[in-house]
Amino acid sequence: MTNGKKIAMISGITGQDGGYLAKFLLEKDYRVLGLYRRGATDTFAKLKEHGILEKIELLDFELLEFSNICRLLRKHQPDEFYNLAAQSFVAASWEEPVYTAQADGMGVLYILEAIREFSPKTRFYQASTSEMFGKVQEVPQTEKTPFYPRSPYGVSKLMAHWMCVNYSESFNVFACSGILFNHESPMRGKEFVTRKITAHFAEIYTGKTNEPLELGNLNAKRDWGFSGDYVEMMWKMLQHDKPDTYVISTGETHSIREFVEEAGKHCDFDLQWEGSEENEIGIDKKTGKTVVRVNPKFYRPAEVEMLIGNPEKARKILNWNAKVDFKSLCRMMILADIERAKKGILV
Ligand code: GDD
Repeated sequence: MTNGKKIAMISGITGQDGGYLAKFLLEKDYRVLGLYRRGATDTFAKLKEHGILEKIELLDFELLEFSNICRLLRKHQPDEFYNLAAQSFVAASWEEPVYTAQADGMGVLYILEAIREFSPKTRFYQASTSEMFGKVQEVPQTEKTPFYPRSPYGVSKLMAHWMCVNYSESFNVFACSGILFNHESPMRGKEFVTRKITAHFAEIYTGKTNEPLELGNLNAKRDWGFSGDYVEMMWKMLQHDKPDTYVISTGETHSIREFVEEAGKHCDFDLQWEGSEENEIGIDKKTGKTVVRVNPKFYRPAEVEMLIGNPEKARKILNWNAKVDFKSLCRMMILADIERAKKGILV
């Protein structure tokens, strides 16, 4: 605490959730220390778009450098630490399994150790994930559903999750694990499927491209919520009187295909599907143009076919509800990308 202000450290400040969380905490009058990786390809574009870049104190941070993490915690003694830094793209985790395990598994252990040794009053939030449920053992998934991760990413995140539980049971570290289902926004990176769809459709709609959008598995289903809703829940977890694990989701599931169709409506596409599996295409009947094409290159070695979370515990204990539903989320994202495309700032 400095000048009566609570201090929050956010790792992964340049990412989608980092921006929304920083904005939320600044509105609550926190002093926000934003941790970012020097030399990362990420820029501060999202923080600029939120209009908060100059309000955040930016500090160099490297998830794989234990000494750096220790120094930061010893020096700043933050009230709260939100770990949003990760190799967060599931598909990349098969190409970079070792790095993913180091960053998403060991990196979290480094932070927990640094808290235990140098800043034991710091409350810790870990960005856990529905990918830990993977090949789901129960529908819908709750905090009690057995885990079955399907990617090096999911396995690494599972290690981090159990480290949080273990450090809170063993050393009294206030470590919370938020099992967040997919959460999206206009700030989402374009490697993730929702934003890949809205950005590409916006380009077709505004005449910037004639190329069809290439996608992998159209039939996978996800429980998609709005990042801006979910960051509130991260904060709520750390205000509670004991550390715990919570599922954060909307309780609805939709396929990639449905997301494509919903986004297409806002581009005036009269979408019709033809062919099957890797030969499937989506045609805009109005123009006869192929706007979507399946490319097996985007299939995953092991797919998570369906995720749907039950957020009842978060509702009951923390009085939290997702406010933005599937259709509103899709609308928000496609309209934002159409605006950006029209202004020539769709990046
Ligand atoms: N990215 C991508 N690109 N996904 C595609 C594509 C494509 O061209 N075509 C189909 N998909 C399918 C994937 O196979 C997957 O089933 C689904 O779309 C969602 O993929 P992503 O948007 O990349 O997200 P994710 O579900 O793998 O992971 C996201 O959510 C997790 C929470 O469940 C990420 O944000 C993770 O970091 C997060 O933990």
